[in-house]
Amino acid sequence: MNMDQNQKNIILRKKRAEVMLGGGEKAIEKQKASGKLTARERIDLLLDKDSFKEYDLFVQHSCRDFGMADKVLNGDGVVIGTGTINGKPVCVFAQDFTVVGGSLGYMHAKKITKIQDIAMKMRVPLIGINDSGGARIQEGVDSLAGYGEIFYRNTMASGIIPQISVILGPCAGGAVYSPALTDFVFVVDNISKMFITGPEVIKTVLGEEISQEDLGGARVHAEITGNAHFFAHSEEECFLQIRKLLSFIPHNNNKNLIDNNVNPASPTANIDINNIVPIDPTIAYDVRDVIKAVTDNSDFIEVMEKFAPNIVVGYGRINGTTVGFIANQPLYLAGVLDVDSSDKAARFIRYCDAFNIPIVTFVDLPGYLPGVDQEHAGVIRHGAKVLYAYSEATVPKITVILRKAYGGGYIAMSSRHLNADFVFAWPTAEIAVMGPQGAANIIFRKEISEAENPEEMRKLKVEEYKERFANPYVAAAKGYVDAVIEPVETRDMLVHALKLTENKAEVKADRKHGIPPF
Ligand code: HXC
Repeated sequence: MNMDQNQKNIILRKKRAEVMLGGGEKAIEKQKASGKLTARERIDLLLDKDSFKEYDLFVQHSCRDFGMADKVLNGDGVVIGTGTINGKPVCVFAQDFTVVGGSLGYMHAKKITKIQDIAMKMRVPLIGINDSGGARIQEGVDSLAGYGEIFYRNTMASGIIPQISVILGPCAGGAVYSPALTDFVFVVDNISKMFITGPEVIKTVLGEEISQEDLGGARVHAEITGNAHFFAHSEEECFLQIRKLLSFIPHNNNKNLIDNNVNPASPTANIDINNIVPIDPTIAYDVRDVIKAVTDNSDFIEVMEKFAPNIVVGYGRINGTTVGFIANQPLYLAGVLDVDSSDKAARFIRYCDAFNIPIVTFVDLPGYLPGVDQEHAGVIRHGAKVLYAYSEATVPKITVILRKAYGGGYIAMSSRHLNADFVFAWPTAEIAVMGPQGAANIIFRKEISEAENPEEMRKLKVEEYKERFANPYVAAAKGYVDAVIEPVETRDMLVHALKLTENKAEVKADRKHGIPPF
């Protein structure tokens, strides 16, 4: 008997439903009991409602070893497809832990590389949801090959399309390197785990005992290692964060297709920009208030909020245009540059530059952090990354010196000398080789020690130095600062500078690529 179309459709629906059960009811129950959503639930929550189109649903593994020949692995443990976020197309994959622990076999990898290739060809963002026991042990070198092919594509797509990794379960061994090669890693408290070698291996090799959470939980990566860029308390919150990020950043690196501009809006936060920065350079304040005082709707999405909080990086809009903000944070360590904050800033600068996002820098720092720990941890190498990244970036670079700009910190934070397009300074700016105290102690050492009242003399000399250098006018007299502005003039100056630099053209000498101090 010939089947009609409807009967064929019914068979398809049945087949689909079978595969969509993943590892089956029991495994789904176990997934839920561990506080996790299923792969398809995650995709549905992340994407615009009903926008997901799935591909390779019927792909099967090809392993014949270790009793695998008779096993059916639905979708081979990963869901791939396309959909939209905020109405714009994206590519997505989500590993299905209910199918052999979301482990990565060769066909599983083939599905991921297929969606990577589509994302690259169509120049749309790729979001990978990772929940996997790592290389599928039964498949041996085939699964290693699969990882390698994913890493290669991650690297080739870098700087062309945004790549986002979401860690929603274990992520062990080779599985951590794809996220590490992508631009933004999202983690969720108590759910995400990332490590190269797990607690068992550590116990065997080193005799040390540590839990998965303490070794590589969400907080560890958001606060200590810097491997994670966004931290959420639930999967739902995490997907909202991704949707918000994608509303700010361009969806590819094509300058002619800048798609992230929206209608201009005024700042809404009730902040008096004139009174955010205390005149006394030893008093701290939250530099995010300055950012919120100049951004549209005072909206700001902070990247790596918990890691190296002495520097703040993130996105906001000025008059409808997305801008990358980099600002020293006097609330932590007086906003110094150190190993971690240099690393954080340099990577952010490179991201902005790759995706044509103008950079606005707010400066208030006493310099690089002194100390044996820092020196031995390579503050020279890491600190140089900031110099390199700012110097190399050709996107519009606008700097506002709010208060302290001392020594190497002054140069590093997008100074005129590193080719910033515009440098403005507030009247509270202090641009000098070092703070007045340290400077007076060194250059007036003799006068101070020989004075009848050394303490009195020290105070006098500190004042003398302050008078001379702790202001923006010496730098302004030399043209290193283009304009000294009142705080209330800041947004207007930024709006104008962004307009002016819109078609900025900078020609660089021909080279294959530079060699940054990685
Ligand atoms: C094959 C795997 C697997 C793997 C898990 N499973 N990981 N099968 N290969 N790598 C299977 C389990 O056997 C189990 O199958 C099911 O998935 C669910 O796993 P459970 O262990 O029951 O889950 P849970 O208790 O939540 O533990 C999760 C886990 C654990 C912590 C991830 O499964 C685990 O430690 N897996 C191995 C991790 C690992 O060492 N991976 C290799 C890394 S080396 P059944 O049939 O019982 O339901 C690597 C090298 C790559 O990745 C290098 C590339 C450069």
